[in-house]
Amino acid sequence: MTEDFDVRLVENAKYYTPGAEYKRDSWIGDYQKAYDRFLADPVAFWNNVAQDLEWIRPWDSVREWNYPYAKWFVNAKLNITANCLDRHVKNNRRNKVALIWRGEGGAERVYTYQRLLSEVMRFANALKKLGVTKGDVVCIYMPMIPEQIIAMLACARIGAVHSVVFAGFGATALNMRIRDAEAKIVITSDISIRRGKAIPLITIVQEAIDNAPSVEHVIIHSRRREPPVVIHPDFELDFYEIMNNAERECPPEVMDAEDPLFILYTSGSTGTPKGVVHTCAGYMVGAYYTTKAVFDIKDEDIYWCTADPGWITGHSYIIYGPLAAGATIFLTEITADFPDPGIWWKLIEEQKINIFYTAPTAIRMFMKLGTQWPQKYDLSSLRIIGSVGEPLNPEAFEWYYKEIGKERCPIVDTWWQTETGMQMITTIIGERMRPGFAGKAIPGVVADVVDKTGTPVPAGTMGFLVIKEPWPAMFRTVYKNDERYRNYWYTIKDCYMAGDLAVKGNDGYIMVLGRSDDIIIVSGHNIGTAEVESALVSHHAVAESAVIGKPEPIKGNSIKAFVILKLGVKPSEKLTQDLISHVRKTLGPIAVPHEIEYVDKLPKTRSGKIMRRVLKAKEMGIDPGDVSTLDE
Ligand code: WTA
Repeated sequence: MTEDFDVRLVENAKYYTPGAEYKRDSWIGDYQKAYDRFLADPVAFWNNVAQDLEWIRPWDSVREWNYPYAKWFVNAKLNITANCLDRHVKNNRRNKVALIWRGEGGAERVYTYQRLLSEVMRFANALKKLGVTKGDVVCIYMPMIPEQIIAMLACARIGAVHSVVFAGFGATALNMRIRDAEAKIVITSDISIRRGKAIPLITIVQEAIDNAPSVEHVIIHSRRREPPVVIHPDFELDFYEIMNNAERECPPEVMDAEDPLFILYTSGSTGTPKGVVHTCAGYMVGAYYTTKAVFDIKDEDIYWCTADPGWITGHSYIIYGPLAAGATIFLTEITADFPDPGIWWKLIEEQKINIFYTAPTAIRMFMKLGTQWPQKYDLSSLRIIGSVGEPLNPEAFEWYYKEIGKERCPIVDTWWQTETGMQMITTIIGERMRPGFAGKAIPGVVADVVDKTGTPVPAGTMGFLVIKEPWPAMFRTVYKNDERYRNYWYTIKDCYMAGDLAVKGNDGYIMVLGRSDDIIIVSGHNIGTAEVESALVSHHAVAESAVIGKPEPIKGNSIKAFVILKLGVKPSEKLTQDLISHVRKTLGPIAVPHEIEYVDKLPKTRSGKIMRRVLKAKEMGIDPGDVSTLDE
């Protein structure tokens, strides 16, 4: 994305100032004061935040930092579900609505905190009965339905480690994740429903568990009544059948602060995805704190995050953060454009959503379709609107601010990652906002933009986005590959390197420009070039391939693949279609190349590494920069 950097954006300072009530009434109050409080005594700061939550045993110390390994809330005992569910039930809020779900076609389900707790306990007991114990890995591959959340919380209840795989991944991608984590159980649905169509999930799971010897059972939640799903009785079980036969009470497992809570796979710069490991206490405190500080959720608010619970955004800001804060969450599987592009605004009007959190790719799609859609609906319930996943460019900011926020709602453009577990940089509500800039580090976080040596770069100069101090929700390792964890901390001296390029304005606001590595963000989904390349090469006709991201106005990037065919194979339209369906089957629809070009040669370094940067420059008609390592 370096080519897109336009220094005028940094020089033309333009700000929007939200109404004074935002700062006055917010949980965090004045940004600078909160940040100073944190800097003066980081330990006291986090100690104070953690006091809001319920602990089985308190911590001996807030943090133990042994570069690059951190422990937070050392020796504390807790269970995150006791904070997300029981705490509210006990505090006279058992009848408060925890979750409102809307399906396509208008079905609606409402869960109070009491009901959610009851269902989580029963499903937890069902898992226990199958022999799942603390530390076992459970893979969840489900659509955006309440059962997905129940399954996740049930794992956390008994100390099982959930590994949620987004239901848009294909069989090979799922198989890789099941095998790497050695999942004992896979939980799925027969189908997911998107734009009026049923998409089979169970068949993908059945294919993915071939060659995955760790899997003992598959639990199937069946949505379709006709024809009924055929269950293989030796190892497949029905979700509600086992749940309805389970005991009602399930006390929360006593977890150590540093016990793993979940694994979540994210794309890396090699063909194998990274199993990012998050632990119980630090993650809980980080997700809870940012939910309060950034979204300022109040008791009567209804909050909607459009992400899938299968991504980190869903883990932290649909489930754990908002439930720990006792919020009412709205969840839907309805896509932004079906049955028409007014549907999300209609839902905001109907549900009286107060806080809305979505992605730039959705905002850009709405921009293209025109203002007539949001204008049809009453959006006056909105108080705060947010963005996450990739840079919110100034044009999209302006549109979102004007057409959705009606020049009244602050926009929180939140920068963070699967690895950080919690939001790290944004403009705290009440502070002036600058289009194109995410903002400053949240109180509790120390962020900067530096050069290769770790020296801060001057304002207006591009550099690497880094974090300089440990934070509670930081990931602790890459599952079974700690070296990949250490790489984040040893690439730039004394810093956590996020892998993003950024630039700081004179005001200290940070603009995130995009990835500095071989990850392409397509519609907010991170896709490793290496993953797509190895999927292509696994096709019998392909000898070699190189994949790049090409800037695209709505998706942010599109995927272009350069392919060298095996000797004697001729390019054809049919072959292109074959390759595309091969990638779809292997990795899933989100990773399918939008364009395939057949070539005879790929630019490589003398050591044989493909120089994707050169391909990309050529594609975009710009100067590729230093090509001294290029092998003629
Ligand atoms: C990008 C999603 C600019 C960034 C929470 C990061 C952003 C990657 C923003 C992590 C933002 C996320 N502005 N870029 N507000 N938020 N990104 O792991 O490149 O799916 O490194 O976590 O998304 O993606 P991930």
